[in-house]
Amino acid sequence: MWIDEPADGRHQDAGTLPHLVVFTGSGISVESGIKTFRASDGLWEEHSVEQVATFDGFRADPERVLTFYNQRRAQICRAQPNAAHKALAALEQDCFNVSIITQNIDDLHERAGSRSVLHLHGEILKARSSVDASLRYPVSGDIALGDVCDKGSQLRPDVVWFGESVPLFEQACALASQADFFLVVGTSLAVMPAASLLSYIGVDTPCALIDPDADALSPPGVRAINTTAGEGVPALVERWRRQKNFEPG
Ligand code: APR
Repeated sequence: MWIDEPADGRHQDAGTLPHLVVFTGSGISVESGIKTFRASDGLWEEHSVEQVATFDGFRADPERVLTFYNQRRAQICRAQPNAAHKALAALEQDCFNVSIITQNIDDLHERAGSRSVLHLHGEILKARSSVDASLRYPVSGDIALGDVCDKGSQLRPDVVWFGESVPLFEQACALASQADFFLVVGTSLAVMPAASLLSYIGVDTPCALIDPDADALSPPGVRAINTTAGEGVPALVERWRRQKNFEPG
């Protein structure tokens, strides 16, 4: 059993649902047609991280960066949540109190119906001031050169670039430490501090990882489920909902 009742019975109180924390990466959006980063055909094979995903790159050529994110935003707006996103949202109906911590900047978890989504690396459907991070604006179309914030500075995508701080990381660590169960889906665990979240879950907290490369990625003690998100997440959710137990099969 990769998920037993937590040793201290944290969620045994009548009327409270166990707290499932799900940590997702770009792999969960692959079956919605959105590329990952480090695959052989990934985004970082086609674009220089330094040029399009750093503040220095933005400062050097803001139009190149705005175009990169405008293209991704348009693709994300055309994409639809897949079976994995929907299965996680369905869990909230009767099985778990679910908190999603995602590295993804798309809104597919929200569009699938998940109600608690923390975007560690920001959100592509928001723009923000390049001089005052508290100034944020919803955006569904393009951000153009010359689009400015209330303080007159160029707007940028509200995403966390390499070398920038991750403002929501402490909040994510707190969620991870409160998890009765922890599920990782579709991330190579290559980027810090995001990947270090696994070190914040309780020593007795059952944890599993769904990824076609799970055996290679799963740290000791984490149950590796070697399959795609679109196959693995609905199968696990169906088992949990049907049998009200937490075995992966
Ligand atoms: N289902 C589940 N997982 C999949 C699927 C799929 N259909 N296809 C690929 N994967 C897995 C890959 O095996 C890999 O482990 O998704 C993972 C994608 O890894 P990365 O490309 O490194 O993406 P991610 O882990 O999300 O990157 C983290 O890096 O560049 C930054 O900000 C960016 O948030 C991103 C962060």
